[in-house]
Amino acid sequence: METESSVISSSRRKSGVVVERGPARQPSRAPSFNSRFPKTRRTVEALKQRAAWAALLRERLSEPLHISALSLLVLAFGSFRAKVYFDIYRRPQHAFGLLYAADQANRLGVKTITAIEFGVATGAGLVNICDLAATVSKETGVNFNIVGFDSGQGMPPPRDYRDQSHLYAAGDFPMANEAQLRSVLPTNAQLVIGNVAETVPRFELGPDSPLGFVSVDLDYYSSTVDALRIFEREDPKCFLPTTLAIFDDIWMADHNPWCGELGAIADFNERNALRKIAPFTFLRNQRLLKKAQWIDHIFLAHILDYPHAVANQRHRGAAPISLSGR
Ligand SMILES: C[S@@+](CC[C@H](N)C(=O)[O-])C[C@H]1O[C@@H](n2cnc3c(N)ncnc32)[C@H](O)[C@@H]1O
Repeated sequence: METESSVISSSRRKSGVVVERGPARQPSRAPSFNSRFPKTRRTVEALKQRAAWAALLRERLSEPLHISALSLLVLAFGSFRAKVYFDIYRRPQHAFGLLYAADQANRLGVKTITAIEFGVATGAGLVNICDLAATVSKETGVNFNIVGFDSGQGMPPPRDYRDQSHLYAAGDFPMANEAQLRSVLPTNAQLVIGNVAETVPRFELGPDSPLGFVSVDLDYYSSTVDALRIFEREDPKCFLPTTLAIFDDIWMADHNPWCGELGAIADFNERNALRKIAPFTFLRNQRLLKKAQWIDHIFLAHILDYPHAVANQRHRGAAPISLSGR
């Protein structure tokens, strides 16, 4: 069980980046999983890397040759939307998700939206989101407030079997160099440091910049349960009606609906009558590269109490991203 105090002690702003500091983590008296099983942890990390490369190779090599040839043309001469359609970008799930959110915002007349990454580690994903969001803003005219949530110290201790401590453990994925990460973030990005159990309830989210995009990469069931409380804000206009949510840790054979991120989604849906998280219906059919693994990571948070009638705007949330943006 985790015993951290629930008070955030300070916050500071530097280079447009807000850093909230949680209390220093008490060193655990028991030897950590990492020190007891360093080989297991390294194996899981290596497996993750290898699986990513294997998936990329499998996806590209198993598509028809003409699509690969066209991809090269799109890479050289294609528009941003064409590149998203051909999965040209690194982390295509981010490119697709940010564009989907911005197009939806435009249809609703929303000028600025919030994009969150839960679980930042060294910041590779967050920096990728910042870069892509800048391009999506140019394409759509929609601005982004980008927020990265992380403990800053790697994974907290697991709470129970649902955190799957044979896969993840305390101290995994530390931030490494927080100052360096802050120095490369743009001014529309914030880093919120502390346990999400404490930082998410304190985070200000309002209808002036509704949540449109969330990337969840917290590995644990318990952390994901705490992060998903962001969707329990009372005002439905704190969100886009179908807020796009990416769940990273759902791809291993050991992942199941009772543990990890999938378990947290199931709990969220049971707790909330008018807010539901579900896989993006028929997305694979709408994509060109049909074998892309990232498609299975894309979910939507359906804000069923969203006041469509008040917005007087017909919302076609399930529409695929078109090449024209309409
Ligand atoms: C797999 S890493 C994230 C990798 C990152 N998204 C990337 O693409 O490079 C998982 C991160 O979740 C963070 N984390 C897990 N549980 C947390 C919690 N309860 N509060 C804050 N951060 C947490 C850890 O600090 C760790 O850095």
